[in-house]
Amino acid sequence: MPYEARYIEERCLNCGSCSEIVACPGAGEEICIGCGACVPACPNEAIQLVKAGREKYIGIEVNGELRRVPERISIREALEETGYKVATCLPDGAEVYAPCGVGACWNCAVVIDGEIERSCITMVKDGMRIRTDLPQDWIPLRLIGQVAPHSVGGVGTPWEVRESNTNYFLEIACLVCGCNFRCPQCQNWLITFRGQGKPNTPGKTAARLTFFDNEFKLGRFCLSGGEITLNRVWLVQLLEELRKLNPEAHLHISTNGSLLTRDYVDELVDAGLTDIGIDLKALHTDTFMKTTGLQDKEVAQRCKENAWKAVDYICHRYHEKVFIGVGVPYNKDLTSLEEIRDMGRELCNIDPSIQTTALTYRPAYRSRIMMPELDEMKAVHRILKEAGLTKTIRHTYAGFFGPDEI
Ligand code: SF4
Ligand code: SF4
Ligand code: FES
Repeated sequence: MPYEARYIEERCLNCGSCSEIVACPGAGEEICIGCGACVPACPNEAIQLVKAGREKYIGIEVNGELRRVPERISIREALEETGYKVATCLPDGAEVYAPCGVGACWNCAVVIDGEIERSCITMVKDGMRIRTDLPQDWIPLRLIGQVAPHSVGGVGTPWEVRESNTNYFLEIACLVCGCNFRCPQCQNWLITFRGQGKPNTPGKTAARLTFFDNEFKLGRFCLSGGEITLNRVWLVQLLEELRKLNPEAHLHISTNGSLLTRDYVDELVDAGLTDIGIDLKALHTDTFMKTTGLQDKEVAQRCKENAWKAVDYICHRYHEKVFIGVGVPYNKDLTSLEEIRDMGRELCNIDPSIQTTALTYRPAYRSRIMMPELDEMKAVHRILKEAGLTKTIRHTYAGFFGPDEI
């Protein structure tokens, strides 16, 4: 189904995001192919996708078969038109998995006339020859928003590391672009929804991270996003490269956990993963949908369950081997204290000693919520502790408070 972007002028604040971070495939030609990459990039919801008509059809070849599709649509759309299964949020065994939709994760890459390109933001053209299977020796790519030493850490940074750290910085961080969620509170949406820029191979990314660590000598790397797990092959290769270059370092990922099947976790651990932080978002599906911006209830429920199951699996299967911390977000406009208490109890059933950080969910990107006060976060912290968790932390606008600071 062809679409096009509609601008709602009265909502536009001229922030420039849609021109500066979006890899709009129609930009040079002043046309719109309805790929939708600009929609999440707009913090003010001033762009909508609407159905559009196309008078002309064109001929393409997909995996050796001739097909006719409407002109001026994305290749992802063309593949869907020709009967291929295309998945967005969760892979679901689809032939094309396009989780970010903004040209950042390269998970949707296909071969177009011999060149590998992203199907979500590439316009289909008459006579194109497309293959959905990538060459075995293709080195995966991903767009990176930032590689730099970081002072904040994440929910998977052990409290002891934070407390005993004498450096200003805690970890060398790599923030990748692209996410399968659309959280209205996204704190770094200019990175998350960025599609512009040159992508990086795992080898080059590992070398850049290692270069910083040689300078700052932290011995800890944090891979985050956006959502770091979207492009599995890229992430596994990055961990392997990092491990080769840094045999003793801690390799930490920070994730929403929605894609972490058991075999994915096993592969990450085999590749060198030592620390993981999972932001659980919620216990109830309705809260999860509000927090993540996911619209499809069934998909949201599966994302949520995957994350909780991943926590359970890692705690039991990799108890001594992988450090795990979880995030419990709080804002009174998103969740209730009862749900926080129930999350605490659920976590206790998995492992009462799991490091649990109450996260201040504050206004950012599209959310119009109020910043939680220090006392509110203190109450959340207390509820988690009273639920039986033995290692609780709270993150507030005034910084982190440890297990004893209730
Ligand atoms: S990013 Fe895609 S949907 Fe947005 S204006 Fe460009 S072609 Fe149209
Ligand atoms: S991103 Fe949205 S608000 Fe910003 S300039 Fe574009 S349309 Fe306007
Ligand atoms: S879905 Fe196309 S690059 Fe991420």
